Amino acid sequence: MCGIVGYVGKQSALDVIVAGLRRLEYRGYDSAGVAVVANGVIETRKKAGKLINLENEIESTPLTQSHTGIGHTRWATHGGPTDLNAHPHLSEDKKVAVIHNGIIENFSELRTELIAAGIKLQSDTDTEVVAHLLSSILPSVKNDLAEAMRKTCGRLRGAFTLVAAHADIPDLVVGARRNSPLVVGRGENENFLASDVSAFIAHTRNAIELGQDQVVELRADSIRVTDFAGKEVAVTEYEVTWDAAAAEKGGFDTFMLKEISEQPKAVADTLLGRIKNNRVELDEMKFSADELRSVDKIIITACGTAYHSGLIAKYAIERWTRVPCEVELASEFRYRDPILDKNTLVIAISQSGETMDTLMAIRYAKEQGSRVLSICNTQGSTMPRESDAVIYTHAGPEIAVASTKAFLTQVIAVYMFALFLAQVHGSELDLEALVGEVADMSAKVDLVLDTMQPVRDLAKQYMNASSVLFIGRHVGYPVALEGALKLKELAYMHAEGFAAGELKHGPIALLEDGLPVFVIVPSPTDSPVLHEKIVSNIQEVRARGAHTIVIAQEGDESVVPFAHHIIRIPKCPSLLQPVVATVPLQVFACEMATLKGYDVDQPRNLAKSVTVE
Ligand code: AGP
Repeated sequence: MCGIVGYVGKQSALDVIVAGLRRLEYRGYDSAGVAVVANGVIETRKKAGKLINLENEIESTPLTQSHTGIGHTRWATHGGPTDLNAHPHLSEDKKVAVIHNGIIENFSELRTELIAAGIKLQSDTDTEVVAHLLSSILPSVKNDLAEAMRKTCGRLRGAFTLVAAHADIPDLVVGARRNSPLVVGRGENENFLASDVSAFIAHTRNAIELGQDQVVELRADSIRVTDFAGKEVAVTEYEVTWDAAAAEKGGFDTFMLKEISEQPKAVADTLLGRIKNNRVELDEMKFSADELRSVDKIIITACGTAYHSGLIAKYAIERWTRVPCEVELASEFRYRDPILDKNTLVIAISQSGETMDTLMAIRYAKEQGSRVLSICNTQGSTMPRESDAVIYTHAGPEIAVASTKAFLTQVIAVYMFALFLAQVHGSELDLEALVGEVADMSAKVDLVLDTMQPVRDLAKQYMNASSVLFIGRHVGYPVALEGALKLKELAYMHAEGFAAGELKHGPIALLEDGLPVFVIVPSPTDSPVLHEKIVSNIQEVRARGAHTIVIAQEGDESVVPFAHHIIRIPKCPSLLQPVVATVPLQVFACEMATLKGYDVDQPRNLAKSVTVE
């Protein structure tokens, strides 16, 4: 969603900000703008569309050289993606510039109040009201921008990251956050503010987590953080473990292709140091063995792709630990009055750690007295901070909007958690063997990646299909959902995933001549009954003229007579199969989008980090 960059320091603010916005492009946006403070004036440039439009605008009407500025990529909520609605927004006297991520829920009430006070609003946004409000408060606090920001925040409801600059204070940028991300980068005689560290990673790896309801005053040589009441707070500084190169395309045409190829490493990195003597060791697990043994129900909550990894987790957790596990879309969770208590463990899964639906689910669970474990890929993000414990996935930065390596590492993390819990419970299963199988998954993902050319060819063959279906049973079902989601979000095609057993209860009516249907087939040795059932499903599909694209493990010859196409994956226990079976579906969707000429990394209408509910 919206990307935010703020800078005060020795370099050209404009250069730092535009480069930072470029790195935040992946978050998804539809307009962009910058403001710099120069000679007692705020100069702004704003343009609808991609960053290049803004860059062209700046080239034709250059900005004065400045060392203080703010920049923004906007994902429209209030008002369409126009030049006028793009941020920054200015106060009436044009002295205050504000950028914003999130939604001000009481904006219409504030707007009415401002209009009654004679202020003429220029845009349709909720952000502009903040610029006017901030400006109106300034005289009462002796033009102290940080204090005015604190007072302004006190008037706002909703989720927001706000960053402001003032024409008459050339060496200061002020930021505030509530329910929306904002990270500080500490440099040498320069400091940065951004929605995430990728915006400033080329300049510094030293980052500071901003807590909930905090205001930061950023100067070239100082960073001061207070709460909304003005009390100074201690900050936690950390070092970002990846570098700028990790956030570059590295020779690939798209970030998604690069990230798909990085999956063996991402899986290996997530396992690294967590398997010792064929046992899972989670040093970061803050819950004691007794606490974990007292858990009588697990609820997993997440959105989109992360939800699919949660669905896979349910099979593993219940199979290996016998602890009942439910999985729920985070956007539904708190609105249905779920039954939670202190013995319920809520697991939130999120790549970004900022998804508002999931964050709200975490907060709700905590309010009900449940313990919360988050599985997250982003250090310093809000979810791990608000959870009782965290298991980090080590996928590295995921820039493409469509999640690939983060998904695989989430699945690995939930396997590790499930096995850890099974160890704690003293399970009689052969856990050591299972741990060994999980440890082998990185190499297996590598093998799959080596055999993807036929999958790319299939995309060519089915480019004009009106629809693509995906079916699977057991953990193959969430894989089918994930395959369909990838195709929808990247290739804008109608795609649906079904539990194969449900086909006959309705979706079978969709089958017609030549319709491509992916079928995820479980291991015949590990799950003979399921295997037999899905072979029947393949026959049902084929009998109705649809084309079966069968994903089956090496050596499974029984499916050959019924498959129009076979994609081979390495042998592994059915429960672990999603780690390899998902990869061809990612490749298929990526190739399909490329063939159709779509933007693979930034599909239309989508945002990488969805920070509104
Ligand atoms: C995945 O391809 C999607 N873009 C999306 O469904 C994503 O997984 C979802 O928004 C959750 O994001 P999170 O993992 O950052 O919480």
